[in-house]
Amino acid sequence: MIQSVGLDLVEVERIAEAMQKPAFLERILTAAEREVIRTPLRVAGRWAAKEAVAKAVGLHLSWQDVEILNDSEGAPIVTVTHPDFRTEEVRIHLSITHEKGHAAAVAILEKISR
Ligand SMILES: CC(C)(COP(=O)(O)OP(=O)(O)OC[C@H]1O[C@@H](n2cnc3c(N)ncnc32)[C@H](O)[C@@H]1OP(=O)(O)O)[C@@H](O)C(=O)NCCC(=O)NCCS
Repeated sequence: MIQSVGLDLVEVERIAEAMQKPAFLERILTAAEREVIRTPLRVAGRWAAKEAVAKAVGLHLSWQDVEILNDSEGAPIVTVTHPDFRTEEVRIHLSITHEKGHAAAVAILEKISR
């Protein structure tokens, strides 16, 4: 059963400016994400995706609580690490898009019925 949805849109230019400071990526991305996500376009996608996930989850998540990597097909896989997030009860579906100027993401929180 679908429980909630989160959506976010971000300007790539804003992210490119923030990336001038090296501390920005350390704050926004996990160590594993920093290994593979390097361009302003993809960082903007992660920003939008994490905001979308936080909206869908409805908890005060920090940037480091949400990790988004890609599977072998390129699809985004989300891991949320927060004491109040019940991994075994919910599944997050995420889709990211990025064009020159903007990145956007939508997250859907599904409650798993047993
Ligand atoms: C892989 C694909 C989804 C990427 O789309 P795109 O328009 O080139 O690029 P977008 O900016 O919209 O999306 C990029 C994001 O898509 C996501 N993505 C990549 N492969 C994916 C896949 N197999 N499944 C779901 N999401 C995928 C990733 O999150 C990626 O961003 P990231 O690498 O930074 O995490 C696209 O090239 C594709 O294969 N589309 C097939 C759909 C199709 O057949 N359409 C025909 C019309 S019906």
